[in-house]
Parts: sequence; structure tokens; C-alpha cells
Amino acid sequence: MKTIFNTLILALLSLSFLGGKEKSICIKPGEIWPDNKGVHINAHGGGILELNGTYYWYGEHKIEGDAGNTAQVGVHCYTSKDLINWKDKGIALAVDNDSTSLLVKGCIIERPKVIYNKKTKKFVMWFHHELKGKGYDAALTGLAISDKPTGPFKYIKSLNPNKGNWPLNFSEEFKTDTATMTNIKPKSEQGKTIIERGYYVRRDFNKGQMARDMTLLVDDDGKAYHIHSSESNQTLHFAELTDDYTDFTGRYTRVLPGESNEAPAILKHKGKYYLFTSGCTGWDPNPGRLAVADNIMGPYTSLANPTRGTEKQMKTTFQSQSTYIIKVNGKKDAYIFMADRWIPKNAIDGRYIWLPIKFDNNDIPYLEWMDEWDFSVFK
Ligand code: GAL
Repeated sequence: MKTIFNTLILALLSLSFLGGKEKSICIKPGEIWPDNKGVHINAHGGGILELNGTYYWYGEHKIEGDAGNTAQVGVHCYTSKDLINWKDKGIALAVDNDSTSLLVKGCIIERPKVIYNKKTKKFVMWFHHELKGKGYDAALTGLAISDKPTGPFKYIKSLNPNKGNWPLNFSEEFKTDTATMTNIKPKSEQGKTIIERGYYVRRDFNKGQMARDMTLLVDDDGKAYHIHSSESNQTLHFAELTDDYTDFTGRYTRVLPGESNEAPAILKHKGKYYLFTSGCTGWDPNPGRLAVADNIMGPYTSLANPTRGTEKQMKTTFQSQSTYIIKVNGKKDAYIFMADRWIPKNAIDGRYIWLPIKFDNNDIPYLEWMDEWDFSVFK
């Protein structure tokens, strides 16, 4: 009797597994993360939007192999009520088959982030966009808009932001500096000084600034900011968006000039802005970084590596690179660090490193590895 009962239970369990319906109760960083169909979630370099109790996860849809490092499909969207079990909602922004479109299949779409504009009731997506066959040279940011959170998003434009505007924190002296980088290595002392003194900002003044790795933040007053690696990834730019979030106002600051930060992810906690970033080593992980400011646009002060753990974990941020910080609904001071463990040889297999953010006695955020965890970690 017992055996028949056990067999029945097993059969039921596997049936529910085949149906992809079994519920997960915890987050397992770095493991395969099945969606409601039992397929590993395909939303890399992602970000989360929360609206009326539903979370929307947007990320790069990758395919198998090397080709997955370019946009063959578009931006994938998933929804969840609990941040653990995710429903596949399909492609929110699709690449174009028309070869004259800038968003043609084979271009690069990275780190898409979506925010909701209460006034226009539109869902606004910005992403890092590179042109097909041009590597990472264009350094554009792309805009797509939708009436519904799950899309379809309509591609609007791509641009180099803040054309014809100086950063708010750019000295007069820098505006007229004539130093060039000819025959100078960017990493040399001289190169670093020239970059810190705004070489790329001047070079791109008329064309618009470079914008690669990026995130968005809507502040408590409803103002939105586009935060991106600019100046050949040497300096971050914090740029204000217009009230409808679909353009740049031209007000922007340089953050941590010449310090090579990318993969920005930002958290507002008790009135302070904590900025998580990485260094620039492509798909390979490196030590995570943290900086803090009293104002969104800076100035930012660098703090220690936010990763706590073994030497290897600290050197590689648990083999991952930041992409977004999630604020957990209904829990006090509950935030999740969201990062990617890239697998560039088989892009689709990239893993997600989600860890709860902890705070030390001085209220400084830090990260510790957990094989698996649930929301009971938050008070
Ligand atoms: C990383 C960046 C990724 C991707 C990659 C390409 O540094 O964070 O989003 O652009 O480089 O090598």
C-alpha cells in the first residue's frame, strides 16, 4: 500500500514538474532558474519594475553560443508576485528584420531597464544599443515605449545623450583645455589626467556623449535619472530625464571621473544613494565597488568592496557583475542585489546572482554568499 502511495506521489510530482507548475520557495543564486514553463529564465543584464504588486523582469534574451552576445531576438519580460516564481510573458521589445532599422537583428541590446511614467501612463524602456557590425563603437542609448508593461514596446530612437551641454560639475578650465590623447595610452598617468580633465566630454560635446552600461532610477519626487558609463567607460554620467522620461534635459554630472566604472546599480536607503558598480573587464568578473552620495547626482565617495567572503569571492563579486537593485515590496529596508554570471561562450546559459543586501552598523550595504535563501532574511 505504502509503495503504491509513494509511486502515486512521485508520479504526481513529476507530472507537476513536467507541467512546469511546481512552486519554488527560495532563490538559489547561480543555479538554473526555471520559469513557469520549466525553462531557464532568459533575461540577462536585467532590471525590475514593480507596479501594483506585480514585478516585471526585463532582460536581454540570449540564444545559444557566441551569437547570443548580440541581439537575435530582443528584450524578454517575465512577471512575478513573489520575485521567486516567474511567468514567461514573451518578448517585450523585438529586434527588427528590416536591415534599414537601427534595431536590426544582430545589433546589440544590453541592460534594458523599464520605468513607468505616472503622468503619461507609458512604460518607458531605455537600453544600451550598439549598431550591427560596429562592435561597441556607437555607445548609444535606445528608447522604446509601450502602453502595457509586457509590451509590445515600440522602438523610438537611439542617441548619444546631452549633446551640446557641459556637465554641471565641469570646471571652466576643462572646457577650454586643448590636451589630446594622440600617442598617449589611456591607462598611463598622463592619459588618466587628460581623461579626468574631460578629454572625452570635449571630444563628444557636439555629437553627444557615449552611453554604454546603464541603469535608471526614479527618485521619490518622480524625477528619473539615466545613469551610464560614458567617456569610453572611464567616467559615469548621471543624467536627468525629461518629465515624460523620453529624453534628456541636458542636466548631467560626471561621477568618479577616470575611475572606469560600469554595471551601475543604485539603491536609495535612508536618504543616501548607494552606487554599486564593477570595474571594466568585459564578461569577466572583477571586484565589486560601492560609492555613496547625499544627492542623486553626486558627489559620490568611494567605499570599500561591498563583497564579504573568500578572497576569490571578493575578487570576482561571486563571479558576477551587478545589473540592478530591487526594492522588495512590503518589507522594510529589504533590497536584492541582482547580478549576472555571464557565460559568453554559451550566452543563454548565463546565471543570475541574486543576494539580499545586508547593512553593517554604520548602515553601509554589503553582500555575503548564500547557496539559497528566502525572504525570511529580511526583518
Ligand atoms: C561588460 C558589460 C556588459 C557587456 C560586456 C561586453 O563589461 O558590463 O554589459 O557590454 O562588457 O564585453
